[in-house]
Amino acid sequence: MNIYTRLKQDHEKQRDLCDKIKSTHSGSKNRANLWEELKVELEAHAAAEEQVFYSALMQKPDGTEEARHSVHEHQEMTKLITELDAMDQSTDVWEKKFKKLAHDVIHHVDEEEADIFPAARKVIATQKASDMVEAFNTRKPAEVERHA
Ligand SMILES: [Fe+2]
Ligand SMILES: [Fe+2]
Repeated sequence: MNIYTRLKQDHEKQRDLCDKIKSTHSGSKNRANLWEELKVELEAHAAAEEQVFYSALMQKPDGTEEARHSVHEHQEMTKLITELDAMDQSTDVWEKKFKKLAHDVIHHVDEEEADIFPAARKVIATQKASDMVEAFNTRKPAEVERHA
């Protein structure tokens, strides 16, 4: 296992939750529960990913730009999550804004997997990429606690 495989596991979960929420009925308990799950997952994943993976990538001259770009996208997603969280989930406005967030999430994880991870593999040592898994698995539950 290396950090790339571990991060992809979370991405799969995020893609799945985005799909599931799109097919929920407005104002349903199911929507509320899935939203709660996705919100915490997105925030905890991004925080642990920044602490463990992007902090290492940032230190490499050939990785700094990619790391900055991704961290910026995390911040944009956090803004949307905060807005959605304060809104009535039974409205069309919520659904429209959620679609925007889901689109941004898919774009972000696709880009990480297609562009950022291959670039990182060139500058982060294989052993380091393996060691990061344990660090990520320690940080992630702590961030879930913090965002729950
Ligand atoms: Fe990310
Ligand atoms: Fe990610």
